[in-house]
Amino acid sequence: MPEYDFSGKVAFVTGAAHGQGRLHAHHYAKHGADVVCLDIGENMESVPYDLGTPEELDETASLVEDEGGEALTVQADTRDEAQVEAAVEKALDEFGRIDILANNAGIATFSELVKLDEAMWDEMLDTNLKGVWLPSKHVGKHFVDRGDGGKIVSTSSTAGLVGTPGAGHYTAAKHGVIGLTKTLALELAEYDVNVNAVCPTAIMTPMVEGVIEAYGEEALARGAELSGPFNIFDPEEGVIEEVDITEAYMWLSSDAARYVTGIALPVDAGFSAK
Ligand SMILES: NC(=O)c1ccc[n+]([C@@H]2O[C@H](COP(=O)([O-])OP(=O)(O)OC[C@H]3O[C@@H](n4cnc5c(N)ncnc54)[C@H](O)[C@@H]3O)[C@@H](O)[C@H]2O)c1
Repeated sequence: MPEYDFSGKVAFVTGAAHGQGRLHAHHYAKHGADVVCLDIGENMESVPYDLGTPEELDETASLVEDEGGEALTVQADTRDEAQVEAAVEKALDEFGRIDILANNAGIATFSELVKLDEAMWDEMLDTNLKGVWLPSKHVGKHFVDRGDGGKIVSTSSTAGLVGTPGAGHYTAAKHGVIGLTKTLALELAEYDVNVNAVCPTAIMTPMVEGVIEAYGEEALARGAELSGPFNIFDPEEGVIEEVDITEAYMWLSSDAARYVTGIALPVDAGFSAK
């Protein structure tokens, strides 16, 4: 694994209670950062699987502390501007600065667009798109005010690159994350802020386990379509793991990627090359 030096830096990770967000938080700390671990900590009406819990968020904080980092846990909903603004203020009160924003929080639900109900659309777009803009707005303001740079990395998806039957609302939100990323990259370049997105294919996390349990064979069949030249569903070939996405986050958050901005980096076993 490459070594990065985030000592003296503060990373603000959304969706940190479990799944990929937990590993991102853990690895920022492994590389020397203090970490703000934010999660909604409760379930959502349209999501048929369990989201992170406050107890899991505390476990993430312990992982950060075990690496010698300071952790601040915040239970907040990235869809809610007042909560996001308060979370950023709390982080600044605690640490005095934020250097890296990791926009990881997200949900996955399935329905074909002609059957999709409005509440499911709203919860998806609010979480997976507005929930990326709001932390970017408030941490971005801090970067502008401070004037000595910053990093924003957001999780899109292979569904941000192509159409995904059965998940048009997810696909629309994840395409939106890339539009937001490119625009923020242009707007914040003069403040030396790098803004990038990562596009993972399917990874076994509580989200995907929950999706498979809730939607069964249908989700599995659609998941198979996300496979590239490396068959990510064949354990003999090796499946994509959370760490593969975390490594992309670490690189994009580091000065090794100082001239990389406005990109959407696929980590997808070649899926998007097809
Ligand atoms: N797992 C995959 O196959 C996959 C593939 C491509 C992209 N992604 C994206 O990766 C990101 C992480 O996914 P994961 O698989 O780790 O999911 P996960 O469900 O395992 O973890 C997501 C975390 O985000 C939190 N969260 C959700 N909505 C929130 C909100 N409004 N405010 C604050 N916290 C909130 C949840 O509580 C949970 O702890 C998501 O953006 C997801 O869309 C996942």
